[in-house]
Amino acid sequence: MNILVTGGAGYIGSHAVRQLCEAGHEVVVLDSLVTGHREAVPDEVPFYQYDLAQTGPITELLVKHQVDGVMHFAALALVGESVRQPLMYYANNTAGAVSLLTAMKNAGVKKFVFSSTAATYGEPNETPIYETTAQTPINPYGRSKWFTEQMLYDEAHADPMFALTIFRYFNVAGATTDGTIGEAHDVETHLIPNILFAAMGKKDKISVFGTDYQTPDGTCIRDYVHVDDLVNAHLSAMTALTPGDVRVYNLGSGNGYSVREILDAAKIVIQHEIPTEYVDRRKGDPTVLLANSDKAKRELGWNPKYTDMKEIIETAWRWHISHPNGFAK
Ligand code: UFG
Repeated sequence: MNILVTGGAGYIGSHAVRQLCEAGHEVVVLDSLVTGHREAVPDEVPFYQYDLAQTGPITELLVKHQVDGVMHFAALALVGESVRQPLMYYANNTAGAVSLLTAMKNAGVKKFVFSSTAATYGEPNETPIYETTAQTPINPYGRSKWFTEQMLYDEAHADPMFALTIFRYFNVAGATTDGTIGEAHDVETHLIPNILFAAMGKKDKISVFGTDYQTPDGTCIRDYVHVDDLVNAHLSAMTALTPGDVRVYNLGSGNGYSVREILDAAKIVIQHEIPTEYVDRRKGDPTVLLANSDKAKRELGWNPKYTDMKEIIETAWRWHISHPNGFAK
């Protein structure tokens, strides 16, 4: 298939580009490079540095490359930033999706795979979280994705030929096994890279946010899924889409790890003490986020390969230790 990957120079998008190319698809990348890295995209892949708001040029590239389907990863994804600058999130994530969908409509492209988030569930009212669990996002980031979901359902309702898969991601981690691409954010807020930065001396220490949660060891529990497993579900979804499909899946491993458990696993993998401080809770962190992903396994034949947290951390470590400055030379 001919696939447009938006955000293909970003963390998850670049892994998708890699897998799509390996599977023999023709890939085109659109990325504004606001947070993405040109170096993350292979030279032979056509690359367009466009903003999602550029409906006209996006329409042209869809037509030119005879795109069959779009994987839409491009988004801003920092909860704290979204609270401080909500309009930026609604402009990029929600209005950006309107523009992209308009371009698709103009070009007659009907297949769409969308990156949504567990943040659309807010403080979930049940554990584990099913696709049917009530969605009550508690920050602008979660709402920007939730609004986009609603808009997609409306478009699917209006156009019976539209074919849609929405994935709600839990905590994406790790890097491709050869260590050549990985997570490289200018401001890194995620737990695993920050633990590894503390071990490498790139950061003084890792701060553990809160030890008084109602969990066995007092720290928050999350569901970590390897980026290559996550991306693999997108390839299955894209090839399975038929007109009129409206599919929604959680993507998580179904295993919960506390912050302390992640620290312990990291110590085993890297064989190094990790300077740690224990501080107050970070605002807005739900106690437990745990996915039930049986639906993706059942309907897409999704079979995540990384079931051991140590293996996930090992792939991240390989990337960070070989690229201490990310993609910067
Ligand atoms: N944490 C620390 N110290 C840090 C960073 C994180 O203790 O330096 C803790 C957090 O408090 C949280 C856990 O580690 O309990 C995981 O935090 P992350 O920042 O790595 O990830 P989040 O769970 O906050 O959010 C991620 C994505 C969201 C997505 C969510 C869904 O960033 O976009 O997973 O599960 F919505």
